[in-house]
Amino acid sequence: MKIATSILSIQENIEECILKIGKGSTDFIHLDVMDGIFVPNKKDYQFVKDTLLQTKKPLDIHLMVHDIEHYVDLYKSFHPIYMTFHLEATEEVLSCIDKIKAYSKVGISIKPNTNVAEIFPYLDQIDLVLLMSVEPGFGGQTFIDIKEKIEILKKYRQEKNLSFIIEIDGGINSDTIKKVEDADMVVVGSYITNSMDYEAQIRNLIN
Ligand code: DX5
Ligand code: ZN
Repeated sequence: MKIATSILSIQENIEECILKIGKGSTDFIHLDVMDGIFVPNKKDYQFVKDTLLQTKKPLDIHLMVHDIEHYVDLYKSFHPIYMTFHLEATEEVLSCIDKIKAYSKVGISIKPNTNVAEIFPYLDQIDLVLLMSVEPGFGGQTFIDIKEKIEILKKYRQEKNLSFIIEIDGGINSDTIKKVEDADMVVVGSYITNSMDYEAQIRNLIN
């Protein structure tokens, strides 16, 4: 199980915290980019771009935005491994996939109430599915069980011999991670960054 640490909940000394995460064992740093339109919150990480790149940690960018192609242009210079957009944010899914593919691997995210079958048409063209286990927009929310979606996706992936990875995002801690053990990666924000010892929290998650 890979860990992507979200820095959304960091309130102060963000550069120092990013460098600490960069020295640690997390597999990815997860950036939650929000435009205040698709979700009722705004978040941008241009101001810490140099610090993020200095860590050399792979970046996993989660675009919770309406104008997807605009934000791909804003974040392509972060050289992320993944850029993920929301299915609910666009009618132009295929052009968003193509736009992102020019710069990184591509992911599609769906909210807790979106039917997982809605992404079936795209699964042979993407590298990652980000299943939200909270309503997008804020850190520190309570986990919503989406176990059934994980099982449906795993079965579909096996039947169609596809290779997208399944990532879960929101409300993950040492208890709820047990409910998503069939996923490939989890995003963890406040459980790690609200603590004094990031590495101890990561050990609690994976042991
Ligand atoms: C919520 C974000 C999540 C969030 C996870 O909109 O997409 O990545 O930061 O934070 P926790 O782990 O605190 O739920
Ligand atoms: Zn996220």
